[in-house]
Amino acid sequence: MRCQKMFALTVMAVMSMASIANAEEGVEEGHQLYVKYCSGCHKLTDQTSKGPGFLGVTGRHSEAWIEKWIQNPKAVIESGDPDAIKLKEKYKITMPTIKVMADEKPRREIIEFLKENDKNLAQ
Ligand code: HEC
Repeated sequence: MRCQKMFALTVMAVMSMASIANAEEGVEEGHQLYVKYCSGCHKLTDQTSKGPGFLGVTGRHSEAWIEKWIQNPKAVIESGDPDAIKLKEKYKITMPTIKVMADEKPRREIIEFLKENDKNLAQ
């Protein structure tokens, strides 16, 4: 019995370590995706470029909202989402749909990266 408990605890510990490692990997890949696909319009500070600066963005929207937005900005605007409509009115251009963001993996990686960037705010 005790042995089983130890085994379960060990499995849980290993699994949680693996998920921490994965999250960190996601951050690095997310950073590369940011450089390639987002940095032309978004800075990592609060400074506006073609689009809003990313600092604080994970506090301005839920992760679910960010994920939907990244997948297809136009669809979120057209759904009548008030946050999306406010953004659209404020910026001259509308964010394009970025093909690679059709997949969940890169979207999750970008979000991990944005969360990491926002940790700078907490310090
Ligand atoms: C061609 C310029 C352009 C590119 C490239 C671009 N965006 Fe945007 N993004 C915008 C604009 C402009 C807005 C403001 C809303 C609007 O008018 O579409 C925006 C808004 C956002 C928002 C909401 C920000 C806030 O402060 O509320 C997020 C999140 C976002 N973009 C993520 C991304 C990610 C992630 C990428 C890269 C995968 C990316 N964007 C690439 C132009 C761009």
